[in-house]
Amino acid sequence: MYASLKSIASYIPPTCISNTDFEKVLETSDEWITKRTGIKTRYFAQSHQQTSDLAYEAGKLAMERANVKPQDIDAVIVATLSPDYLTMPNTACITAFKLGIENKPAFDISAACSGFIYLLCLAKSFIESGTFRQILIIGAEKLSSVLDFSDRSTCVLFGDGAGACVIGSTEDKNAAILDVHLGANGRYQDFLCTPRTHTSFGQEIEIARSCVQMKGNEIFKLAVKTLVADVDEILKANALQPQDVSFFIPHQANLRIINAVGENLNFSKEQIIISVQKYGNTSAASIPMAMNDLYMQKQLKYGDLMLLDAFGGGLTWGSALVYFGGK
Ligand code: UT7
Repeated sequence: MYASLKSIASYIPPTCISNTDFEKVLETSDEWITKRTGIKTRYFAQSHQQTSDLAYEAGKLAMERANVKPQDIDAVIVATLSPDYLTMPNTACITAFKLGIENKPAFDISAACSGFIYLLCLAKSFIESGTFRQILIIGAEKLSSVLDFSDRSTCVLFGDGAGACVIGSTEDKNAAILDVHLGANGRYQDFLCTPRTHTSFGQEIEIARSCVQMKGNEIFKLAVKTLVADVDEILKANALQPQDVSFFIPHQANLRIINAVGENLNFSKEQIIISVQKYGNTSAASIPMAMNDLYMQKQLKYGDLMLLDAFGGGLTWGSALVYFGGK
């Protein structure tokens, strides 16, 4: 019995912000953003929408596409760095409740932009060990709630959105989550982080500011190196060549990173899936959102082999080889 990705769905929030919109409020330009990142637009949630609302929309569609009812889901796991609440309740609890899934385990994981790969690893283990029969995994971010909109070096890079999958089981190895590799190193914790105010006994409480801070240049170099090494490792471990993969779906942070990694690994243009120009960097949601675009363009068929690769705050990273097991 193998774990299998049965459906893919995403939710894109309604407000489209172009680079030109940023030109009006910041010292930046469409030319700079396009040249350095490839990003042209990103979507932001409305103020009343929380991360769980975005997760709910993607999760609901993923369940419909997998033809499963709320009572058929044994657990809900959400990856996010922009939860509804600071520490509790977790966003998965709220999302599950909104979806009509009650009295089932629901928890969040924190692995920043690698969150979706970490979700796949967990789901694969839970299904293959027999702990759960069907799991809803969701990468969801309202990054606009943790951005400093006066910091041009970060705020133009990110967007909001959610991507969800139902993970079930199969006896067909060609519809399985074949392999997942994960890594992390806290040595680089300050390269990409959201600092918070810590309270302590006897001190006055300050209003906490916890916006994304990034050492872009340092992250860039490490990202290319790590993503290339990651892909190389998982392909070798499974005796596969780049040409054996139907689609290479990397984390969508920067077009220059994606192109550098793609060229280094000799993937063809047709194999590399790019959506960063539309959505910006949506962290844990970026890979499932790109995967859903592929699905909506009717390019993704049962048995197609996807190679997923992510890198982000922590630092964390991960890669996965996944046969599409949906219809
Ligand atoms: O998702 C997790 C992983 N994250 C990543 O992988 C992100 C990796 N990093 C990057 O994508 C790039 O480093 C950035 C896009 C963030 C920055 O690109 P860069 O080519 O590394 O630019 P830089 O940080 O070296 O900045 C170059 C110049 C600076 O000006 P000076 O010091 O040369 O005068 C910045 O102040 O560009 C300036 N700058 C901007 N100018 C116009 C920074 N942000 C902007 C902006 N508009 N929005």
